[in-house]
Amino acid sequence: MTLAATAPVHAVAVRHLSAAAATRLLGAWQGAGPAYLALADGLRSAVLAGSLTPLTRLPSERDLAGALGVSRTTTSAAYARLRELGFATSHVGSGTVAVLPRGQARSAAPQPPAGDAPLPDLGDEHAVDMSQATPSATDALHGAYARALEALPAYLSGGGYAHLGIEPLRAAIAARYRARGVPTTTDQILVTTGAQQAIALLAGTFVARGDRVLVESPTYVHAVGALRSAGARVVGVPVGDVEAIGSAVRRTGARLVYLIPDFHNPTGRTMTADERHALGRLTARGVTVVGDETLTDLDLDDVGVPAPFAGDGSDPRLVSVGSASKSFWGGLRVGWIRTTPQLVQRMARTRQQLDVATPVLEQLAVADLLARRDEVLPTRLADLRSRRDLLRDLVLARFPSWEVPDPPGGLCLWVGLGRPAGQALAAAAVSEGLRVAPGPQFTPDGSSVDRLRLTWTRPPEVLADAVDRLGRAWDRVAGR
Ligand SMILES: Cc1ncc(COP(=O)(O)O)c(C=O)c1O
Repeated sequence: MTLAATAPVHAVAVRHLSAAAATRLLGAWQGAGPAYLALADGLRSAVLAGSLTPLTRLPSERDLAGALGVSRTTTSAAYARLRELGFATSHVGSGTVAVLPRGQARSAAPQPPAGDAPLPDLGDEHAVDMSQATPSATDALHGAYARALEALPAYLSGGGYAHLGIEPLRAAIAARYRARGVPTTTDQILVTTGAQQAIALLAGTFVARGDRVLVESPTYVHAVGALRSAGARVVGVPVGDVEAIGSAVRRTGARLVYLIPDFHNPTGRTMTADERHALGRLTARGVTVVGDETLTDLDLDDVGVPAPFAGDGSDPRLVSVGSASKSFWGGLRVGWIRTTPQLVQRMARTRQQLDVATPVLEQLAVADLLARRDEVLPTRLADLRSRRDLLRDLVLARFPSWEVPDPPGGLCLWVGLGRPAGQALAAAAVSEGLRVAPGPQFTPDGSSVDRLRLTWTRPPEVLADAVDRLGRAWDRVAGR
């Protein structure tokens, strides 16, 4: 359902934002100019970025003033400014309600703070999308499909539903774990339709409605979505803080911990071997620890990744998820879970209610690519490495005040803006025909307001154009 393109005259609120939640959402909202304008701008940006859903009743002027430590005149003037801009309506008895102004239709369905913001419509064929970490296909893909087609006849006499995955692919994935030092048998592998389905299956298997689940904050946004769909109450813990994860498990009684150990999305961080061991020990507390290894192959600087997250393979509560999406191509829609044979069987039964099985031709193509990974990956990694270096150089040159990390792998640059302007910048970028993802999309509580995620998956000329557009947007946001 979409809102009418015109802001309703008397919008009826379908949810309520408390003063405390508004304070968290706004982060460090104050800037150099008048406080009421900065406050109005913070709320407007939150609506545009999707972290403040239209038809949300804002806190009363008095409550918000109290929570923010400003005068009531400031909150009153800020709400008046929001109304003037078309981002709020007020009606006696129903308070001030956030809305979208004319021409900015968007989903009216309730949205969680993390990441499910509707994609802004760039409406221009020359627009640039830097919000998705999705590299194009490896050059080897065509040959892999050709060989898969040759192998296909052997499968045509069967029904084509391989609920567990086809044998050669499961064997190739198990062999890859063994080559990385983890004893793994074919019956420990369940082929899934992408890592996304793997995460959803694990969430459905281990999480009951209301259970706490821990994730790193920031993290892969659609994992948070899948966990919430299973009824999880998702709690964020700072990336790389193993002690905080341990104490949060004890404090919350979490049932599951979801982690991205290698070239973490979006920070690029890789866990040390010691951190992995410490996290592995958490399973003794009855918690299942899932390591999402979707990005593991993207070791751009050849730093070497510690042993797989699954440890030596002896602990059934240590589960690994993998994918062909980043190593070869997202359009293959092939991922997997490595766990116990019993859980493989159980989740295979569940997945029959979802999509029954993953297409056979794609599985054959991935089996072929895995067999050739040593020839295929170096070219792909060299290409991604040069794009990363280019994007980083361009960003460093254009935005000298930003904190620009130097990730050794992965697909993303998680930049620090030095001010809580991530949402405002993403909104301003849309008017430059550029889509980028603001920090709060990657955190379960809408924090990281001073961050932006840029991806280097696009060709060099597109990256240069994108940084130009971003520069123009930043000039407007920074008031230059
Ligand atoms: C950490 C992580 N896990 C899973 C996925 C989704 O992978 P797939 O395409 O295999 O569903 C992504 C995609 O960006 C990701 O970054």
